[in-house]
Amino acid sequence: MASDHGGYALKTFLKEKLEKAGYTIIDFGTDSEESVDYPDMIHPLASAINKGELERGIIFCGSGNGAQMTANKYPNVRAGLCWDVEQAKLTRQHNDANVLSLPGRFVTFEEGWEIADTFLNTPFEGGRHLARVNKINQLI
Ligand code: RB5
Repeated sequence: MASDHGGYALKTFLKEKLEKAGYTIIDFGTDSEESVDYPDMIHPLASAINKGELERGIIFCGSGNGAQMTANKYPNVRAGLCWDVEQAKLTRQHNDANVLSLPGRFVTFEEGWEIADTFLNTPFEGGRHLARVNKINQLI
């Protein structure tokens, strides 16, 4: 997990819930509501996912956009910005997202939990979606 100040509260809530559910969490910060720059926390998490050191990531900022944009600079990262359960389901089923970006200022703690739970427990559908995912890094 990694967040800026805009996602800190939701990160703290979800970290506790996920640890209770049995997940091992590595927390890349931030550690308070003090204003910080989201790339400083998101880059280390995205780099670890990119190298295959971590399986899944959950990132946060106020809108979810800056965190997602930073993470998606890494070729092996597919970060989906999700504000409801249906988005989380689709970004797993169709995009094989390995990083979930949550907008800390736009979802409640309970909504955040439902979205994260869906993201972590929905399989990729493969098939035609695999061919599409494989084209994402084919820049022209
Ligand atoms: C911080 O105020 C805010 O800009 C940040 O959390 C995020 O929403 C950026 O995309």
